[in-house]
Amino acid sequence: EIVKLGSGERKTEVDYSSSDRGTRVRVFGRVHRERKQSRVLFVTLRDGYGLMQCVLTGPLSQTFDALTLTRETSMMITGEMWEVPPGAHAPDNRELHADYFEIVGKAPGGEDAVTNKVQAKGDPQTLLDMRHLVLRGDTASSVLKVRDAVEFAFNVKYHELGYTKVSPPALVQTQVEGGSTLFSFDYYGEEAYLTQSSQLYLETAIPFAGNVYCIEKSFRAEKSLTRRHLSEYTHVEAELDFITFDDLLAHLEDIICGVLSIVMGNPRIAAMLQELNPDFQMPERPFKRMRYSDAIDWLREHNIPNENDQPHQFGDDIAEAAERRMTDIINRPIFLTHFPAEIKAFYMPKDKDDPRVTESVDCLMPGVGEIVGGSMRMYDYDELMAAYKREGMSADPYYWYTDQRRYGTSPHGGYGLGLERFLAWLCKQHTVRDTCLYPRYMGRCKP
Ligand code: 4AD
Ligand code: MG
Repeated sequence: EIVKLGSGERKTEVDYSSSDRGTRVRVFGRVHRERKQSRVLFVTLRDGYGLMQCVLTGPLSQTFDALTLTRETSMMITGEMWEVPPGAHAPDNRELHADYFEIVGKAPGGEDAVTNKVQAKGDPQTLLDMRHLVLRGDTASSVLKVRDAVEFAFNVKYHELGYTKVSPPALVQTQVEGGSTLFSFDYYGEEAYLTQSSQLYLETAIPFAGNVYCIEKSFRAEKSLTRRHLSEYTHVEAELDFITFDDLLAHLEDIICGVLSIVMGNPRIAAMLQELNPDFQMPERPFKRMRYSDAIDWLREHNIPNENDQPHQFGDDIAEAAERRMTDIINRPIFLTHFPAEIKAFYMPKDKDDPRVTESVDCLMPGVGEIVGGSMRMYDYDELMAAYKREGMSADPYYWYTDQRRYGTSPHGGYGLGLERFLAWLCKQHTVRDTCLYPRYMGRCKP
């Protein structure tokens, strides 16, 4: 029988309970670790589903192939399954007692091929150049499996809530979040851009689908190197029809907590998270709510200066460093709301009670800061036309967006969540780069 190595929900053909001791199996994988003793060779095999400790004894451990076995070599092993006591430190408390093996593909061995060691020692740029091998290590592979589970959980949760998933285009001719971060390119002789956000397209899907969402790539020509900015990232975006601003905040809490409980309900993923982020605690509901103006006061009281090293003033953009210090001190999720119109995007409507500010929200998490940006949307035609004008934008390319206000408009709102930032917070990774298969940021477009 060919066996996949993972326990939990991927546990396959064989039940490794004690009554099955002695089951004969055949496993395929790569050498994750190896330990040689005088007449015993311990090989921990990895096949992407899990790990299996294999024990080669007697003549089997003395063959040329066994004596020269290197990490990452791919091989097939057959033998008998034995249960071992928890103290023996065998993955999943089991062991394969080999009676035959074959090498499928050798690996060169040495430090540079040994992925866990590279991960522990290398400088960040080398690690990124060697990302294709680093991915095989414990931390990187766990983070990417958690990533898969999180993306899956978003789909599950949105479908539970009755949302329809759509797939907006990545090649566009409009901007959403300002011209300074647009990647532009020649599209058959016309100027076009890589999308910064699918929001405008999601708004156009509302009239046929009701509440909608998408999980798509967004692109930003970010000219600064920070630990939370990528040029290409995965954007979880949703748009909700006929809602109030308070509905939007309540939904955000629901989706974040709902996704976390789906993820934590998967024992295999929960165990990985326990390794990656032992201090993780489910956020308490309701999340703390804080108006932008109160955040400005808080930053002044705590002597946290703005980007020009001056005390924060109403109207200042709260920069990454200040935002993170505040979030780390408060140390729980925060809904930062009601930003001034001047520092936010053109489509955000004014608050009726305080026209200096907009119905906007950022969700901030300790260790990362902003992971979500959202708002209500202007749904009045004249108000939107005035907004284009104020921003110096031509309304022409946006005719399809504006038309939503002409053909049966509705109060609606939505948000975008950066999947990599969510993961950096959840998996306690220093940078969003470590949550990508192959990160893209200024200066890096390989491997
Ligand atoms: O705050 P942003 O720019 O908002 C929008 O794009 C809205 N149009 C979304 C919407 O309402 N549908 O981006 C939303 C989120 C941020 O909170 C952040 O998590 C992530 O996208 N993000 C980035 N993540 C990695 N690298 C970057 N360069 C990012 N820029 C934004
Ligand atoms: Mg934002």
